Amino acid sequence: MTNELIAIIDFGSQYGQLIARRVREQNVHSLIFQPDVKPDEIAGHGRLKGIIFSGGPASVYSPNAPTCDGRLLKLGVPVLGICYGMQLGSKLLGADVRPAESREYGRTEINVVKSEGLFDNLPAQSIVWMSHGDQVNQLSGDFITLADTKSCPFAAVKHKTSKFYGLQFHPEVTHTHHGREILQNFLYNICGCSGDWKMSDFAEDAIEKIRMRAGKAKVLCGLSGGVDSAVTATLIHRAIGGQLTCIFVDNGLLRAGEAAEVVSTFRDHFHIDLRAVDWSRQFLFALKGVIDPQQKRKIIGAEFIEAFKSEAQKIKDAHFLAQGTLYPDVIESGNKDGNLAANIKLHHNVGGLPEKLGFELIEPLRDLFKDEVRRLGEHLGLPENIIWRHPFPGPGLAVRIIGEITEPRLEILRKADAILIDEIKSAGLYRKVSQTLAVLVPVQTVGVMGDERSYDNVIAIRSVDTSDFMTADFSRIPYDVLGLIANRIINEVRGINRVVYDISSKPPATIEWE
Ligand code: XMP
Repeated sequence: MTNELIAIIDFGSQYGQLIARRVREQNVHSLIFQPDVKPDEIAGHGRLKGIIFSGGPASVYSPNAPTCDGRLLKLGVPVLGICYGMQLGSKLLGADVRPAESREYGRTEINVVKSEGLFDNLPAQSIVWMSHGDQVNQLSGDFITLADTKSCPFAAVKHKTSKFYGLQFHPEVTHTHHGREILQNFLYNICGCSGDWKMSDFAEDAIEKIRMRAGKAKVLCGLSGGVDSAVTATLIHRAIGGQLTCIFVDNGLLRAGEAAEVVSTFRDHFHIDLRAVDWSRQFLFALKGVIDPQQKRKIIGAEFIEAFKSEAQKIKDAHFLAQGTLYPDVIESGNKDGNLAANIKLHHNVGGLPEKLGFELIEPLRDLFKDEVRRLGEHLGLPENIIWRHPFPGPGLAVRIIGEITEPRLEILRKADAILIDEIKSAGLYRKVSQTLAVLVPVQTVGVMGDERSYDNVIAIRSVDTSDFMTADFSRIPYDVLGLIANRIINEVRGINRVVYDISSKPPATIEWE
């Protein structure tokens, strides 16, 4: 990598990934490293322009508080410490950090007393988001104060001789009104970044790397219909054309029209060698009588491997397997130090293929966040309905039918789901909400249809807003849109006489019902 790089040292902050994304949103590449990273380990990942010390839950004066190699402050590049990162950096540079008299959480107003590049073109007073129990208590004469609040005399500081800046508040969260501009000032005014992290450059670079790595060998790619595998396949096809073969397994648990759409997009439009195999009979047979959700997942995972292996065997000389692993998967697999050669968990994308399949992995997206994958997909000309498709779980509709999976139940759910998505799109909400789904709840409730009583199933609608899918809130879909969805489902889908809307948040509820 020859891009400009901002290294984020993660001290266990809940916002580590968010900082990385906020930096990349400003067209500057960023990577997350563990506190024990050595300065020369960072060097191989790009042209280091600056370092950000993240926040963290610890207290810098507690015995096991995470610290970092002090040489990071002496590399000649600017360092921005956020919250814990400010306290640690200040402490390493000789400041006195102690518990604050009162803990400070939530919104507060800062008062800028000196800009020093960090607060350029910003109002003197603005709202920021604080979350800390400790604060810098006293500064040696080596520091200057850039901003304060009513209860925090050092809300922003700068070291006089080293290029260390500290913020007691969190510029990365949206509650800090000018957080974006503060980070932008740090990147452009202070670190002197030019903003060379662009998807077009990334694509060219990735294509070249794929060519070099694959040589003349064949590459296999499991397509699921989701954005990650779609972008992976398209990128690899750009690089090596006919050496790529994609395998799409129809497991019988897909949404209405999904298999046909994948075939028409990738085979007909992109002219990719796509082997679409219909394994729905095998999957449904294996799932007969199974009601336990985890058992369903295991069976589907095992069937997928069988299906994929049997198709892969037909492709002679396949040496590589392409997977749509993303950067959060790399980070979450414990590989936070940016050592991109270390072990990674195998990703869900193609249903979780075991390592023993014997292929070498190609993972061209492993440096990207989801929003970047979408931008790359746009750059590669993928259609909007694939790029912006809501996540769909590997086990598909199987975990959206409570209890046993049968053909008639799948039919009911497919019809209800299609109506739901259709109406959410018509209302202009599809790109506003993060994930929308229908669940078939096979309990018979009473209804009246014409002059007769009916005892039919319930469809539950779930729609959530989330940025990371770890926590989520239910989407505030207008009542009239919900009404229209319910009305259409009850009228058009035989076997449904009741529709309910799930207003639980995650946690404690999950997004899927099984
Ligand atoms: P939960 O239900 O855990 O869902 O709140 C979080 C996100 O993960 C998706 N999900 C799955 N994806 N295999 C997958 O590939 C699974 O078994 C699975 N279970 C949940 C879910 O759709 C949501 O986006």
